[in-house]
Amino acid sequence: MEIHQKLKFWYQSASRDLPWRHTSDPYYIWLSEVILQQTRVDQGLPYYYRFIQQYPTLQDLAKAHEDEVLRLWQGLGYYSRAKSLLKTAKEVQRLYHGRFPASYQELLALPGIGPYTAAAIASFAFNLPHPVLDGNVKRVVSRCLEIQRPIESKAAQVEILTWLNACMEPSDPAVFNQAIMELGALICLPKTPSCSACPIQAHCLASQSGRPTDFPIKKSKPAKRILHLAYALAWNNGKIAIQKRGSTGIWANLWELPSVETSEPAEINALEEFFPGLNTVVYRSFELPIHLLSHREIRAQVFMFKTQSKASHQVEWISPDRIDSYGFPRILTRFFEEHEDVFRVPLPTEFLKPDNGS
Ligand code: ADE
Repeated sequence: MEIHQKLKFWYQSASRDLPWRHTSDPYYIWLSEVILQQTRVDQGLPYYYRFIQQYPTLQDLAKAHEDEVLRLWQGLGYYSRAKSLLKTAKEVQRLYHGRFPASYQELLALPGIGPYTAAAIASFAFNLPHPVLDGNVKRVVSRCLEIQRPIESKAAQVEILTWLNACMEPSDPAVFNQAIMELGALICLPKTPSCSACPIQAHCLASQSGRPTDFPIKKSKPAKRILHLAYALAWNNGKIAIQKRGSTGIWANLWELPSVETSEPAEINALEEFFPGLNTVVYRSFELPIHLLSHREIRAQVFMFKTQSKASHQVEWISPDRIDSYGFPRILTRFFEEHEDVFRVPLPTEFLKPDNGS
């Protein structure tokens, strides 16, 4: 037996009885699909019933007030979808006298209808051979074929569509699409697939190799780049040095302690370019908590020391009680808050020895 036949038999005996599966009216099918993109079947059902009761035909919906549609949509979230629903209805009314067009391309050209919804209406309402590609279907196919590429990649999508088109060819497209979606919803579950109950297990490479949950492959997130930073908390005559960052980057135009990026965990010598002679200076160091940004991990050390030398770069010397009048990145305001004591007590003349870190 071919895959489409196995799917059909299984679907006929095991699928859920859902109201939109008893109709070929594109308006009802469209409504159900828009709602089901927003929520699960059990939560979507009451919305579906309320919509078709309030607006039994597309003409009724096209005439509705937006406020009323929004009220019916309440609880589903993404209110732009409800507005888009009304807009699509008006457009179908205007262009096609209230009847959805019976072609994939014309459906796709309507506002608010993407490839998934166009394929769902084309197949469920008009039995046209357009595979639906939702998350469930992608998971089923990625397991059958053990697709090695990230599931959202263009190449993976082509692989999936090619397979679906080939399997669907001689079958009833409406049933084929419903069945493969249902298989993803009931059997081929993301974490706990029931392979032994699957009608197409014999065609599934991932099940045969015993690793269905290794698929689909998600795009791996690039590892966060680690950035080491050496900050100078340089004191001169009761003042500390600060500098303004340039106009680019995440901390653009903010103030900071003079800093140098390093490729290895920071050492005080990295700050030599600002404050010459640092290798002889007495200092205290503070390791800051790891600071996570969207694709960076910042590991910073603050080196506190006294200096008589003028800084070689442009810095401003300010009294530490004025810190609050400057904008600093969070990583530094946290340090200032947590080490307030450091700024309140004047540094002793001979303060702390090297290696006496916090
Ligand atoms: N989720 C999205 N479309 C669906 C459909 N037609 N039946 C069941 N679940 C769905």
